[in-house]
Amino acid sequence: TARTDLAGRHVVVSAGGTREPLDPVRFLGNRSSGRQGVALAESAARRGARVTLVAANVADSLLPEDPAVTVHRVETTLELREAVRAAAAGADAVVMAAAVADFRPAGRSEHKIKKAPAGDGSTAEPEPIRLTTNPDILAELAADRLRPGQLVVGFAAETGDGTGDALSHGRDKARRKGADLLAVNQVGATQGFGDVPNDVTVLDRAGEVVARAAGTKTEVADALWTSVVERLRQAST
Ligand code: C5P
Repeated sequence: TARTDLAGRHVVVSAGGTREPLDPVRFLGNRSSGRQGVALAESAARRGARVTLVAANVADSLLPEDPAVTVHRVETTLELREAVRAAAAGADAVVMAAAVADFRPAGRSEHKIKKAPAGDGSTAEPEPIRLTTNPDILAELAADRLRPGQLVVGFAAETGDGTGDALSHGRDKARRKGADLLAVNQVGATQGFGDVPNDVTVLDRAGEVVARAAGTKTEVADALWTSVVERLRQAST
């Protein structure tokens, strides 16, 4: 039987990866396909929610066809921020699954950047790319709460390194960002990006584990919405 535990709810999901233009043809970007965000949108729609999906550079062939999902396509971090915040004003929950660029080029050339020839016919040394900091959309949403009682959820792809395991990095991030829930995706050589299984731990704001899910992006999405539904119920009682 179909679950309808998100009926009457409006949720916002961001998906994909932002691109930051250097000139009309080049950008700084990342490898996020948008599959996890799309799976979250589809899962929420199946459970009865009205969904706004803010899709950053997600291939058209991956976008959901469910009529309960409204798609807004964006390219840059600043566009993603505007679209998410506009939709979040009326949302019960916002899930930031998009890979957002922390930095963007400080300037954007109106014309394609050319190689500068050196006097002797060789190519001159390239100009360094200057960057400026993007806003942290998730931290802003957590601080602003655009609708009272709204649940704010982040994703974090973490790898273990010499200074600690993926989960302890996730705990630090959960506390720092101020989101209600943070889904920590342990990424390694074979997990995380593309069409491969995921291993996700859901942490609360204090960094405590509230759920674990391993499996497909659809299974991870379903587990995350179950945690969201629990929180929304707690808040309304
Ligand atoms: O700090 P990190 O990029 O690992 O955090 C990931 C989480 O923060 C994701 O939910 C991502 O969508 C969000 N994020 C954001 N704005 C940024 C960077 C990340 O909303 N500038």
